[in-house]
Amino acid sequence: MSSLLVDNIGELVTNGTGEGPLGIRRDAAVLVEEGRVVWVGPSAYAPAADRRLDAGGAAVLPGFVDSHAHLVFAGDRAAEFAARMAGEPYTGGGIRTTVGATRAATDDELRATVRRLRGEALRQGTTTMEIKSGYGLTVADEARSLRIAAESSTETTFLGAHVVPAEYAVRPDDYVELVCGPMLAAAAPYAKWVDVFCEQGAFDVDHARAILAAGQAAGLGVRIHANQLGPGPGVQLGVELDAASVDHCTHLSDADVDALAGTAHSDGSGTRTVATLLPGAEFSTRSPYPNARRLLDAGVTVALATDCNPGSSYTSSMPFCVALAVREMRMTPAEAVWAATAGGARALRRDDIGVLTPGARADLVVLDAPSYLHLAYRPGVPLIRQVMRNGVTP
Ligand code: NIG
Ligand code: FE
Repeated sequence: MSSLLVDNIGELVTNGTGEGPLGIRRDAAVLVEEGRVVWVGPSAYAPAADRRLDAGGAAVLPGFVDSHAHLVFAGDRAAEFAARMAGEPYTGGGIRTTVGATRAATDDELRATVRRLRGEALRQGTTTMEIKSGYGLTVADEARSLRIAAESSTETTFLGAHVVPAEYAVRPDDYVELVCGPMLAAAAPYAKWVDVFCEQGAFDVDHARAILAAGQAAGLGVRIHANQLGPGPGVQLGVELDAASVDHCTHLSDADVDALAGTAHSDGSGTRTVATLLPGAEFSTRSPYPNARRLLDAGVTVALATDCNPGSSYTSSMPFCVALAVREMRMTPAEAVWAATAGGARALRRDDIGVLTPGARADLVVLDAPSYLHLAYRPGVPLIRQVMRNGVTP
C-alpha cells in the first residue's frame, strides 16, 4: 500500500473541523492512502509516507463538485449569445437547435465533446461533475447520451424532459408518456438521477410530477430545473418529491423559501433539499441573479454549479462561478467556496466528497495562491496549480 503526504499546506480548507465554516487548518498536511484521506493534521507532526507533495505554503481545498452540467451535445450557439448581448431575451427556445445538432452527431463526436469539457473542468479543479442528457429527446438519443456520459461520470442524469421536441409540439401528453415509458426504461441503466425542466414553455407541474415519480419508481434520485425564468411550482414540487436539489431558484416566493427551509435536518446540518444556484446562467443570459442571501439566511443549504451547456451558460469553470457568487450574489467567499465543494456534494447526496477529512476521497486542489479568498479576489486568473483525484494526479 503506497502512501502520499501532501504537506507544507499554508491554508487547508477541510469543510470539517477547524477554524470557521470552512474548517480551516494552517500549516497542515494530508496523508493519502488507497485514494482516501487517512490523516489530517499539523505539517510538523505528519506521519512518514512513501511519497511527498510539497504544497509550498499554498492553499489546498477539496476538489470542486459541479453538480449541474449538460455536456452531451453538438454544435454551439455563439450567435444566439451575441444576439442576447445585443438585447434579445433568453427563452430556452434554442434548446431545439442543439437537439437537431446532437441527433445528427456521431457517438464519437459526442464523446469527444464530453471529454473535452470534462478535461477543461478538471484543469479548473472540478473533481466530480454531474452530467445530464437532454439534447437527444428520442429513446435512442437519450440512451446513447447517457451511455456516453457514464463513461466520464458516475453522476449521470436523465433529462429526457428538457423540452418537448418539435415532432411532439401539438401532443405533449404523448411525449410525456414516451419519457415515462420506453425512454426511461432505455435511459435508467446508465442514469443515477432524473431531472425535468419545469418551466413555462417546457413542462408543467403535472407533467413534471409524472416524469419525476416514474424516475423515482425506476430507482433514480430526483433533481429539478425550477423557477429559472419566472415564478412557478417547480421548487415546491421538488420538496414534495424529496429532490436532492432544486436548481436555478432565480424567482422564489416566500413559500418556496419556507418549503426548502422546512426540509432541514434535525441535527442542524442544513436542508435535505439543496438549492443549487447557477450564476453562469444569469451571467450569460444577462438576467437578475438569484437571491442567495435570502436562502442562506433562511437556513437553506446552497450549492453552486456551472450549468455548463451551449445555450445559457457555456462555462466549465467553478472558480468563475465562485467569483460571480461573491461579487453578484453577495455570498461571502467562504460561503461560495463551501457551496462549490461541500454544497455540491450535498446536492448529490454524497458525504465522501467535498470534504478533506479522514475517510473522504482524496480529491483536492492546490492553488497558486496562499488563500481560498483569491478564488474571488483574483477573478479570471488560472489559480489551479495542481489537481488530485482519488489520490492521483490525472
Ligand atoms: O439549465 N434551463 C434549461 N436548460 C439549460 C439551458 C439549455 C439550453 O439553453 O440549451 C439550463 O439553463
Ligand atoms: Fe441546466
